[in-house]
Amino acid sequence: MKLLILGSGGREHTLCWLLRRSSLVDQVFCAPGNAGISSEATCIPLDLMDFIEIKAFCKTNNIDLVVVGPEAPLVAGIVDYLEKEGIPCFGPSADAAKLEGSKIFMKELCEKVGVPTAKWAKFNDHQSALSYIEAQTAPIVVKADGLAAGKGVVVAETIEEAKHAAKSMFEGIYGEAGLEVIVEECLVGEEASFFAIADGKTVLPLATAQDHKRIGEGDTGPNTGGMGAYSPAPVLTEEICKESQETIIEPLIAALSSEGIEFKGVFYAGLMITEDGPKLLEVNVRFGDPECQALLPRLKTDLLPVLFAARDGELENITLQWRDEVAVCVVMSSAGYPGNYKTGSIINGLNNIRQTADSMIFHAGTQFHGENIIASGGRVLGITALGNTVKLAQRKAYELVDKIDWPDGYCRRDIGWRAIEDD
Ligand code: AMP
Ligand code: GLY
Repeated sequence: MKLLILGSGGREHTLCWLLRRSSLVDQVFCAPGNAGISSEATCIPLDLMDFIEIKAFCKTNNIDLVVVGPEAPLVAGIVDYLEKEGIPCFGPSADAAKLEGSKIFMKELCEKVGVPTAKWAKFNDHQSALSYIEAQTAPIVVKADGLAAGKGVVVAETIEEAKHAAKSMFEGIYGEAGLEVIVEECLVGEEASFFAIADGKTVLPLATAQDHKRIGEGDTGPNTGGMGAYSPAPVLTEEICKESQETIIEPLIAALSSEGIEFKGVFYAGLMITEDGPKLLEVNVRFGDPECQALLPRLKTDLLPVLFAARDGELENITLQWRDEVAVCVVMSSAGYPGNYKTGSIINGLNNIRQTADSMIFHAGTQFHGENIIASGGRVLGITALGNTVKLAQRKAYELVDKIDWPDGYCRRDIGWRAIEDD
């Protein structure tokens, strides 16, 4: 079979790495891909929002399945478009992807079926948002309704900060995504991600993971897209997973279904494990990144038939096998990220690292420059290692990091610390 994976990050590198190993796969294409992905797949310079161009490529190359990595094309309806053209595609329809594309849609659905989530209010004008915020106590959370490339959430420590966040959103820093704003109670607890694949009716839990969102060690400093991750997440015990599935994920998928919307694809629930049990922070409709760089290397079952089963409504018959080992993924970013950083610095030493089933390097933001590999983004590499304990996996991951010669790179040295305390 011939596959097309859409995206250019660590998530897509992980998907190419995994799916290329499927006995059913003959060829993997990735658009647009990156330098690391080009050793697993043929990279094609397609624009992910140009559905016509993607369709033409699929028809010319007889693509058997398209796997969509990031949220923007999903929310814009790529799956509906390609399926209508007769091209099989894994991922949710635009209607189902609204769970990520509109926080208000997600919260209203939660309210309708009683899914535990933070108390909230929505606003479409600046003045009423300010009056509401002034009557609350800090910390308090302000969110742009729409997609804002992971930046539309402010956990404000003071009322002033919350007011400033709402003001910037209404002034348009996130464009149309911020024309409606949510103000939300700040939940307290440990955060973790629960991943499942759904086919419209059946929810097949994958595994759990936790990411480190802050740039600094000890989980301090500004938020990032994720500086590392580990899987499984010890805080998500079997009992909490069951509770999350029964009180959060299944009710939301059933609620969509009762509105005639089938959720097919990855259901990624961002959870806060509070004293009152798991509460839903957010829904994403795709794999988390870097979480999937820790999660998917633990999967023993061939992923490809699972993706087809999700598309075809046949997940009921599927069981998944996972490796018992723990995986730790350390992200290396360009120094300065998530603020200003420069791109173009040369990364040496990547060829000296032997990649095995227990250690691998996923590229997130790299390009070829002649013979050299250069950094081309904020988050640049994900170094994943598996081990019998978090501590062993962590040690192995940092041994690999230390073989990479990249003076302009940065990584945290404590990825997995919370899980090591639980080991
Ligand atoms: P979201 O994009 O909605 O996941 O928000 C990004 C991050 O903001 C989450 O991963 C949490 O760390 C934090 N966050 C979002 N909503 C809340 C909330 N209600 N209480 C506390 N933290 C939150
Ligand atoms: N690591 C968070 C995300 O993928 O949204």
